[in-house]
Amino acid sequence: MRTKTNIGYKDIYNRIKKSIQNGSLKPGNKVTSIRNLSTELKVAKRTVEAAYDMLIGEGYLVTKGPKGTIVNPDIVIPQIKPEKTFQVQDPELVSIMKIRDENGLFRLGTPALDQFPYKIWLLISGRIIRKMDPVDLLNPPVTGYRPLREAIANYINVSRGISCSPEQIIITSGYKHSLSLILHTLAKKSDKVVFEEPGYIFGAKLLKRIVDRLFFNPVDSRGLNMDYFKKHHKDAKFVLTAPTHQSPLTVSLSLSRRQELLAWAESEKSWIIEDDYDGEFHYKKRVIPALKSIDVNDRVIYVGTFSKTIMPSIRTSYIVVPALTVSSFIENSEIFETSQPLLQQKILASFIHEGHFYKHLKRMRSLYQQRRNFVIGALQRVFPKVFKFEMTDGGMQLVAYLEKGDDDVGLAEIWQKNGLLVYPLSKWFSGKKKRYGLIIGFTNITSEEQATAAFKKVSKETYEFLEDDN
Ligand SMILES: Cc1ncc(COP(=O)(O)O)c(C=O)c1O
Repeated sequence: MRTKTNIGYKDIYNRIKKSIQNGSLKPGNKVTSIRNLSTELKVAKRTVEAAYDMLIGEGYLVTKGPKGTIVNPDIVIPQIKPEKTFQVQDPELVSIMKIRDENGLFRLGTPALDQFPYKIWLLISGRIIRKMDPVDLLNPPVTGYRPLREAIANYINVSRGISCSPEQIIITSGYKHSLSLILHTLAKKSDKVVFEEPGYIFGAKLLKRIVDRLFFNPVDSRGLNMDYFKKHHKDAKFVLTAPTHQSPLTVSLSLSRRQELLAWAESEKSWIIEDDYDGEFHYKKRVIPALKSIDVNDRVIYVGTFSKTIMPSIRTSYIVVPALTVSSFIENSEIFETSQPLLQQKILASFIHEGHFYKHLKRMRSLYQQRRNFVIGALQRVFPKVFKFEMTDGGMQLVAYLEKGDDDVGLAEIWQKNGLLVYPLSKWFSGKKKRYGLIIGFTNITSEEQATAAFKKVSKETYEFLEDDN
């Protein structure tokens, strides 16, 4: 027997009308059938019918005979502005979010979206979905799907020189997740944490929120400045660095500094967190092995990601944790973390195991070198005296330093307004001493003509702006 509820037709009418008005139900969307909704809400069919009749009468819904009832495709719903309280207040975050969510040219850190082997990915996905069995519907392991961990262990051994067992690999959902898990597992509240200056803006934002004793160490043309580090931060418990291609400057940590850093970590029993987000993309010279590859004392915690090598939306990354810490990481993953979707892990594992990943990387390495040249060529042509470069040999972005002036924020705003999604370099500094320029992603620029046309679009405004600024 049906239990009575006190939901009346007016309640149903109001709920559906509200969903249409706030955009959760869009013109053309199907609404639940009268029979299903009456079962779901435990009300009589005629109650739902009465509500639907009112909504049809007012033009919110239309019936499509046997196809059911849909939201009127012709209805025009006035755009409701999000309530003020829903809006992010931190102006810096607002500007970052704005360009991250927009589509445009020179976007930072995005692999070549036109070159991803979609067909292969689709074929593998279809095969994996067809082969799914009931146990695949259960929770996947919190540390990651074993064959994916094996594929990664093999890949980083071959490509990055890191020898580790699959047990040392923990699958995570991005850099911030990796960092939080590492600090959660190994850091004490009182531990001193050191980050690079300038450094990855999203890393700095996260660390400022979760670390009590956060310090910054300058980076120069040979990477993290070790003289400064030894003088000011010898007592650190963690140092975070991107030694292969520093972010955003793309400089590489020199071998002697790598050795100094490793020796420091061993003598202080401290940890180095290595961010190897785009280590594969080195162009003229040989790819530099990861810092982790020469870490004989297991003091480096290695953080990798598929955001640059596959696509950012995959949200799949990994940590290589020191052997002695594996059980703590498993324990914390079990307590704090949720697992990553199994289906995606399976697709990715096959993509790597079957060799498509390596092939794709190889193609992207030569493509990015070409695309970088397009952008540098176009910048030099359109802005011959505006920027200077300190050429490095890798990365997915370049820094165009301002020859004169320091308003890179104002200049970036002009470019962003015109769909050129560059970042102002000064914003990647946390202290007072800054450098000024634009951080420009080049991986999605397909010709020098395309880059030249984009720069020409902003050249008049750029020159006028810089004249006023100087
Ligand atoms: C410096 C740096 N580290 C790490 C990442 C990887 O981030 P995620 O794996 O969260 O996409 C990025 C991505 O842009 C990055 O620029």
